[in-house]
Amino acid sequence: MSIRIAVIGAGIMGADHARIIAQDLPGATLQVICDASPERAREIAERYGSADVSSDPMQTLARADVDAIIIASPDETHAVLSMAAINAGKPALCEKPLSQSPEECLAVIDKETSLGRQFVQLGFMRRFDPAYREMKSALQDGVIGRAVMMHNFHRNVEAPANFSGQMAISNSAPHEFDVVRHVLDTEYSAISVFQPARRSTLGVDAPVFMVLETRDGHLVNIEINNNARYGYDVRGELVGEQGSVQLACPVHTRVNTQRQAAERYAADWRPRFAEAYRLQDKAFLAFVNTGVFPAHAANTWDGYCAALVAQAGIQALSEGRRVSLRALDTPALYLSREGALS
Ligand SMILES: NC(=O)c1ccc[n+]([C@@H]2O[C@H](COP(=O)([O-])OP(=O)(O)OC[C@H]3O[C@@H](n4cnc5c(N)ncnc54)[C@H](O)[C@@H]3O)[C@@H](O)[C@H]2O)c1
Repeated sequence: MSIRIAVIGAGIMGADHARIIAQDLPGATLQVICDASPERAREIAERYGSADVSSDPMQTLARADVDAIIIASPDETHAVLSMAAINAGKPALCEKPLSQSPEECLAVIDKETSLGRQFVQLGFMRRFDPAYREMKSALQDGVIGRAVMMHNFHRNVEAPANFSGQMAISNSAPHEFDVVRHVLDTEYSAISVFQPARRSTLGVDAPVFMVLETRDGHLVNIEINNNARYGYDVRGELVGEQGSVQLACPVHTRVNTQRQAAERYAADWRPRFAEAYRLQDKAFLAFVNTGVFPAHAANTWDGYCAALVAQAGIQALSEGRRVSLRALDTPALYLSREGALS
C-alpha cells in the first residue's frame, strides 16, 4: 500500500518535497497539498498531481486518507503542527527549526516521551548529504586522527531586507549547529558571536561570525553571510590531528574558455542539497513504513539542542560576550540511534 502524504506549506520547500514525492519516492502518494493560500495550493497540486488541496492544516492532519505529514510552513507553525500530528497519531517530517523557542521544543519532546515513541523527524537534511556523511565516516574510521577544529561557511546570495544578524543565528545557522554536533558527536559548551566592525555599504546587516566550544575540546567557527551576492555556497573543513576532510561541492561541469575555468554557483540551496533532501524524504518514508526512527535523522531532541544554541548565540550577540551552555541529559527515548539508513 502506498503511503499517502500531505504537505503543509507549499512554498519553496513544500513544493520541493511535493516534487520529490511525485517524481522520486516510490511507495509514496502525494495526497493533499495544503497552503494558507488556496491559489498556491492549487498551483503546486496541479504541477505535481496531488489528489486533493486544502487551506486548513488541522483538517488536513486529521484526514483518514492521510498517513503521514510533511510540515513546510513558516518556522512559527512547526511546533504547533508537530504536536497536532502526534495527537493525530501520524508521523511527521518537520522542516527545521522545530521551534526557535526551546520551551516549545520541550513541549513536543514531553508529548513524545509521554507516549513512549517518536513521531517527528526533523528536516536537518545535511545529515543525509553524501559529503557530510563521508566526513563523519572519515572521522569515525580514524582517517584524520582525533578531530580538533571545524570550519564552516554558509553564504546566500541575498537576504530579505528585514533579515537581521539575530535571524542569521536563529534561522540559517541551526543547519550548522546541528550538522557539526552530528559529525563531531559532541555537545556545545559555549558560544561567542561577532560581527565585522566594518559595516556594509549596501545597507544590509553584516555577516555573523561565531566561535563555538564543545564539551570534548573542539573549536568550531561558523560564518553566516546571507548577502554574499555571488551565489549559494556552503563549505566546511574538519581538521584532525593527522589530516583534514573538506566538503567537495557537487558541480557537474567546469567551463573552460578564454584561458579561464569557471564553475557555476546556484542561486539557492536546492541544487546543492538535492540528494540530501531526496535521501531524507526516503528515510522518512522508511520510518513511516517500519516505525523505526532513521539512524541518522534529526529528532525533536536535536531540534531542542539547536534551539538552545541559537538562543545562547542571540544572547552572545546582543550582550557582546561568550555565553556558556549547560550540560544536558538526553532523554532515554532519544538515546538509541539504531534504525537503518536507507
Ligand atoms: N531544510 C532546508 O534546507 C530549508 C531551506 C529553506 C527553508 N527551510 C524551512 O522551511 C520552511 C518553509 O520555508 P520556505 O522557504 O518554503 O518558505 P515560503 O515562504 O516559500 O513558504 C511557506 C508557505 O507556507 C504557507 N503558509 C503560511 N502559513 C501557513 C499555515 N499556517 N498553514 C499552511 N501553509 C502556510 C505560505 O502561504 C507559503 O506558501 C521554513 O520553516 C524554513 O525555515 C528549510
